[in-house]
Amino acid sequence: MRSLIDILDFTVDELNELIATANDIIDNPDKYCEKCKRKKLATLFFEPSTRTRLSFEAAMIELGGSVIGFSAANNSSAAKGESVADTAKTISCYADIIAMRHPKEGAPLVAAQNATIPVINAGDGGHNHPTQTLADLLTIQREKGGFENLTVGFCGDLKFGRTVHSLITALSRYSGIKVVLISPEELKLPSYIKKDVLKKNSIPYKQTTDLESVMPELDILYMTRVQRERFFNEEDYLRLKDSYILEPKKLTKAKKDLCIMHPLPRVNEISVAVDNDPRACYFKQVLNGKYIRMALILKLLEEAEK
Ligand code: CP
Repeated sequence: MRSLIDILDFTVDELNELIATANDIIDNPDKYCEKCKRKKLATLFFEPSTRTRLSFEAAMIELGGSVIGFSAANNSSAAKGESVADTAKTISCYADIIAMRHPKEGAPLVAAQNATIPVINAGDGGHNHPTQTLADLLTIQREKGGFENLTVGFCGDLKFGRTVHSLITALSRYSGIKVVLISPEELKLPSYIKKDVLKKNSIPYKQTTDLESVMPELDILYMTRVQRERFFNEEDYLRLKDSYILEPKKLTKAKKDLCIMHPLPRVNEISVAVDNDPRACYFKQVLNGKYIRMALILKLLEEAEK
């Protein structure tokens, strides 16, 4: 059974196909409005979410299907001690496809190993968030026309930011990518990603604590929230949370066609005054997330029927 747990589960060709389908859905929504008639999506969210859960639900509804699920662990039998494996076996009796978010890294993989229907990782702890990456890739493709020869700056919490880990992994498969890692010392990108992704794929990268000094080089600036829920103590979070706040004056030396991205939710990382800058793409990412998730649901359901 085909699932999406890690962005590397799909080839570059498959990613390009998903992006092409999402663009076709944007242009011809009526063509897709009954594609998932009588199909059910189960959204199993053991952690809070606004965009991911509701975009999955909107995606399935716009495909003509329906949705069941829960939005917090304490609304499910996990609160009574049920395992992820048993939950996945149970939901396989009720639905055709699962989208799961869980605070434990690897939980969606365990679900996929026990379910008899496709499982989509909707975010697992500080590990991966492959469907946010799909939304990010669709946004980059629509804003930049492709993925080659881009200098991409990742700024903020690169240690716990699972969207960063998945997007770096995805972009490392395209040619001419350069990566600039901007974070406080304590929130640097994990060594295993530098070794297994950046170095392994010979992606040039540099690390800095100073956002403004690298701003003129960037084609894409990917801002991130400091992930309070992953910190062991509140003191460290409070010290680091406002390390980077993007304000209009910090963009004076940025490229005219810079693409400013953020997976959201934001706290203070981007001033609302930036929202009206034509380079702000983070609410386009939100909308693109729905279309790419429609394409993903279609692909996985089609493959399950083969
Ligand atoms: N980007 C993202 O995962 O947002 P939510 O936590 O609201 O789903």
